[in-house]
Amino acid sequence: MGRIIAVANQKGGVGKTTTSINLSAALAETGKKVLVIDTDPQGNTTSGLGLDKNSVENTVYELMLDESDIEECIHHEIIDDLPTLDIIPANINLSAAEIELIDAEHKEYILKEAVKKIMDSYDYIIIDCPPSLSMLTVNAMTTADSVLVPIQCEYYALEGLSQLIHTINLVKDRLNPELKMEGVVFTMFDSRTNLSLQVVENVKDHIEENVFRTIIPRNIRLAEAPSYGIPINMYEPKSAGAEAYKLLAEEVITNS
Ligand SMILES: Nc1ncnc2c1ncn2[C@@H]1O[C@H](COP(=O)(O)OP(=O)(O)O)[C@@H](O)[C@H]1O
Ligand SMILES: [Mg+2]
Repeated sequence: MGRIIAVANQKGGVGKTTTSINLSAALAETGKKVLVIDTDPQGNTTSGLGLDKNSVENTVYELMLDESDIEECIHHEIIDDLPTLDIIPANINLSAAEIELIDAEHKEYILKEAVKKIMDSYDYIIIDCPPSLSMLTVNAMTTADSVLVPIQCEYYALEGLSQLIHTINLVKDRLNPELKMEGVVFTMFDSRTNLSLQVVENVKDHIEENVFRTIIPRNIRLAEAPSYGIPINMYEPKSAGAEAYKLLAEEVITNS
């Protein structure tokens, strides 16, 4: 049975999408069957894996509005050399879903109900969340077995973290009692400054959650890869970024 991991942090720009794309690709490279679900209306995971978000059909929007079956929404063979990597894409249409579903029954469980039908076909399902604690993020956390929280190594790293942990605990208490904290992963670590190191130490002092040993360095190749629509392990497999996400994938596999 597949393990479902939501990649969440209500802050934007902390590395959720970069982690969703490259952790999924690194897992797929080991031969695991992986599904990425993009739940951010910005659709950056969708375009980062080579789909045209403006023209793509059968997205998370159609899935949640019950206009398409989940099988129709799964796009296969999106990356040439990663045949075990599938995606359910998203685009700007998804921003309307929250309003359109405002009166829907059990609206916190819409994604979970859909994913149930296909979860046995995957080893890992990675859900990229939007930068908010919205109904879409709650759906992701209700569907997931665990939450992986990317934290950017910058001065304000701790800001908002207690609110995020509170939300995870609320979802656990009310909607998904089995939900676990997969762990915190530090991103955009800059070894040339003391600040990055101080942030890591400071966050570790303040939280009780699991922290991944792998730290993702700031690496220009990670920022470039999405413009080619391919993950880092296909764009620049020898880069520090590719190496780091490979190690993160190994840790995730070991934790299962
Ligand atoms: N480790 C990294 N090194 C360099 N740039 C990064 C790294 N991680 C993310 N970025 C860049 O930072 C920006 C925000 O990252 P992103 O993954 O989109 O964050 P989020 O999904 O949390 O908003 C993007 O432009 C991305 O390419
Ligand atoms: Mg994102």
